[in-house]
Amino acid sequence: MKGIILHGGHGTRLRPLTHTGPKQLLPIANKPMSQYALDDLKTAGVVDIAIIVGDVYPEKVKEYYGTGEKFGVKITYIYQDAPKGISHAIRLCKDFIGNDKFIVYLGDNVLRKNLIDYTKKFQSSDADAMILLCEVDDPQRFGIAELDKEHPGKIKKIMEKPKDPTSNLAVIGIYFLTPKIFDIIDNLKPSLRGELEITDALDMLLNQGNKIEYDTVTGWWKDTGTPEDIIHANKLVLDSIGTENQFLIDIDSKIKDGIVIGKNTEISRDSFVTGPVIIGKNCKIGPAVRIGPYVSVGDNCILKNCNIENSIIMEDCTINAKVDFESSIIAHGSEITDNDIPKKHQFLLGERSQIKL
Ligand code: TTP
Repeated sequence: MKGIILHGGHGTRLRPLTHTGPKQLLPIANKPMSQYALDDLKTAGVVDIAIIVGDVYPEKVKEYYGTGEKFGVKITYIYQDAPKGISHAIRLCKDFIGNDKFIVYLGDNVLRKNLIDYTKKFQSSDADAMILLCEVDDPQRFGIAELDKEHPGKIKKIMEKPKDPTSNLAVIGIYFLTPKIFDIIDNLKPSLRGELEITDALDMLLNQGNKIEYDTVTGWWKDTGTPEDIIHANKLVLDSIGTENQFLIDIDSKIKDGIVIGKNTEISRDSFVTGPVIIGKNCKIGPAVRIGPYVSVGDNCILKNCNIENSIIMEDCTINAKVDFESSIIAHGSEITDNDIPKKHQFLLGERSQIKL
């Protein structure tokens, strides 16, 4: 069995964070979101993996994952010149896949449960595809599967973001496929938004009389398209730290009361950390800092005099100010300091920045 991780796309809903890198490298609990996919595939025994890179800093993806050796897998990079759809990205992998069964994992999806049982099920099945379904409150946002009421266990229809959904079962971004899908994609037409949709490919596979199995996910699943999704994913992952393989902490870190602290990080006596929280290595926290719950702080950060809740602070940030904030994402190398002129704010903000005062 082989794996494909989708690392392309433009991530427009995550600007300005995606002006300087692909969204799938944004950290959730101090680990790039696509590494959850990679670790998940590896745990399921899938180590021959293609990563689809797009035109948003593909070199950063290659720099991070390299040959895959460091992560215990073998990586082949495949370039997609523009985000022409998930099916388009899959079609680029035809030679890489050969005659194998395979798993496609969207690099911005995070799943609570590991893939071991699903992978075994698909490996021993004669199905042409298997999808994973998850109940959602807002089915209009997702690809949706409608089950066949007259034939229990069968899927009737698969639709992309329907205006009037006939089901609340989202098709999550992990697809178990066979090479049969390539001929189907060759006959697909772009959707109204100009993409070759995976939902259209699956629906066509179904309509041509092929067998698609499904399973329902237990635990949570998160598709992290927006800043709110990323903050929510951070919360879900911090609650799961130390459980499944993909949520293990690195061996140099210490964990106590839901608080993970990296090597060489110092926390002053007058600072308070309320878990779940993760703080990277070489950080200096204090004086008078309150962190948590649900905060991730990357490596090499200096935090003084601030209160932070439910937020992500990436690597190399300095916050030295009497600020109190929540539900925020602060990207690599940012600085927040007190102004010399009392009660006046001073900003240097990148394109599409957002501030609520
Ligand atoms: P989306 O979230 O649908 O698209 P996007 O990443 O471009 O984001 P936005 O809508 O905010 O602009 O993509 C789902 C996943 O699939 C994501 O990990 C990116 C990946 N992808 C590709 O690799 N190639 C593609 O052609 C598309 C459409 C998505």
